[in-house]
Parts: sequence; C-alpha cells; structure tokens
Amino acid sequence: MRQDLVQIRWYEGVFARNSRRAFYDKPIDPVKAGKLAETARILSEDSVRIELVLSGTSTIFKGIVGGYGKIEYAPAYVAFIGDTTDPHVQQKIGYYGECFILEATMLGLGTCWVSAMFNPAQVCEQFQLRPTEEVFAVSPIGLPPPGYRRTDRLLRALSGSKRRRGLDSLVQGVKVYELPDWIVGGLTAVQVAPSAVNSQPWVFEVLPGCVKLKNRPKLIHKFVNPGIDWGIAMLHFELGALERRKPGTWKLLSDPYVASYHT
Ligand SMILES: Cc1cc2nc3c(=O)[nH]c(=O)nc-3n(C[C@H](O)[C@H](O)[C@H](O)COP(=O)(O)O)c2cc1C
Repeated sequence: MRQDLVQIRWYEGVFARNSRRAFYDKPIDPVKAGKLAETARILSEDSVRIELVLSGTSTIFKGIVGGYGKIEYAPAYVAFIGDTTDPHVQQKIGYYGECFILEATMLGLGTCWVSAMFNPAQVCEQFQLRPTEEVFAVSPIGLPPPGYRRTDRLLRALSGSKRRRGLDSLVQGVKVYELPDWIVGGLTAVQVAPSAVNSQPWVFEVLPGCVKLKNRPKLIHKFVNPGIDWGIAMLHFELGALERRKPGTWKLLSDPYVASYHT
C-alpha cells in the first residue's frame, strides 16, 4: 500500500468521524469541494478510482425498505470504483477510500460508507466504467446538522454502531498491557473504524518483526464481503502507529491472512 499518501493529520479524523446520513440541503463550500477533488485525484491510482460528484445525488441512495432509512439531502457524493481483476481491490478501496473519508472529516464534512443502500446503475450512468470496473461503495458528503436525525438514529440502532470490541479481543495470544505503545496506538485507532453493519471483522497477531491482520469470520459475510472493512482497519492501524512514531507499510497477503504491517 502507498504509505507516502498517508497524512498524519488524518489521525484526528479517526476519532472525530461518525457515519452521518442526514445533511443540510445546501452545496459544499467551493474551497472544500476543491480540496476534496484534489484528494480524490491523488488517491486514485492502481486499481482504485475515487470520483467526486457535486450534484445529482437524489437518485443514488435508497432506503432499507422503500425510502425508509434513506440518506437525506446529500449535496454531494463520492463513488469508490475498483478494477475487479485485482484480487485485492476491496482492501485497496477500503484503504484509499478511508483516506478520502478522513480528509472530508477534517474539513468538517459528514460522510457514511454505503455499500448496500445505493443504486449502482445510477452511479454508472454518471461515469464511463471500463468492462472490468465496478462501483464497490459510495458515500454522501455534506454538512451534517448537530445531533442525529431520524435516519441516523434508525441505522445506528439497526447496526449497533456504538458497540465496539474491547482492545484485548482485537489481538490474539497476548494481553494489551504486554504490547508496545505503538501497537496499542494502532489497535485503539482500529477500535473506532467503520465497518459494514459494524461487524468489525478483524483480529491481529503480533509476530517477531510484523503485525498480521486476519479475518474474523461472521455470519453476515454470507451477504457482505469484509474486504473494504479490512482496508479501512489497515489505514486506521497505520495512523495509530504513525502517531506513536512507528511508521510502517502494509503488505497484502492471501487467505487466511489479510496483510502484514512492517516497521
Ligand atoms: C464497507 C461499509 C459499508 C457500509 N454500508 C452501509 C450501508 O449500506 N448503509 C448504511 O446506512 N451504513 C453503512 N455503513 C456504515 C456502518 O453501519 C457504520 O460504519 C457502523 O455501524 C459503525 O458506525 P460509525 O461509522 O458511526 O462508527 C457501512 C460501513 C462500511 C465500512
């Protein structure tokens, strides 16, 4: 993964971010929109394409049943498009996509990863997709009102989004108090990472010379691929370690491991 694209100032965004599903019905400040467009351009590389759309969002999102639970008034959205010929495309979408989400967070904007409740065909109408490309997820972007509106309250309750695993259950075979400070920093940043239906499908193994990320199998994975969640967790871990002055890089691996972090 491209360590050089990661900015330490996003660390603050890790703890400031929450999924937001309702927005003020007004356009994004043009200066902020310009910064987001530049971020999307820089992060689009390899098999990942990040596209910012500043209008025409009304047909993109859908509710759980009918309009129930649908994103409200998003003035803009971002599409996370990936090349399906890359076996690690989902992890890359999660990693680079979360870089974008944290940049938006630092600009004071609300976001929400959406991989299920959107209309891929409507997104495809706005872009030229190559035959091997697919829209993996989208996120609304906008200024969120203070407090949570009805849509947010509903989805937060359904996904149990406030429940997070304890730090000890994020790591195998060792207690958190036995770990070096930088690994605890990484795990603390992973603890608050977003994941589909808040399934938190990750567990870490500390080995001599590296930290490995593994899948935590869940029933929900019959319906939702955890690949994007893993990529998000990788970025969060890296930011947490970086903040404790331990820069490193992720190397993508094959099943049953997801990736290994090397300092
Ligand atoms: C890959 C991915 C897909 C998601 N898809 C949806 C979705 O389709 N609809 C939705 O309302 N929330 C979706 N979410 C948001 C999660 O429900 C949310 O991240 C989780 O409950 C934790 O809450 P938080 O983001 O406020 O910390 C998704 C999150 C991720 C990472």
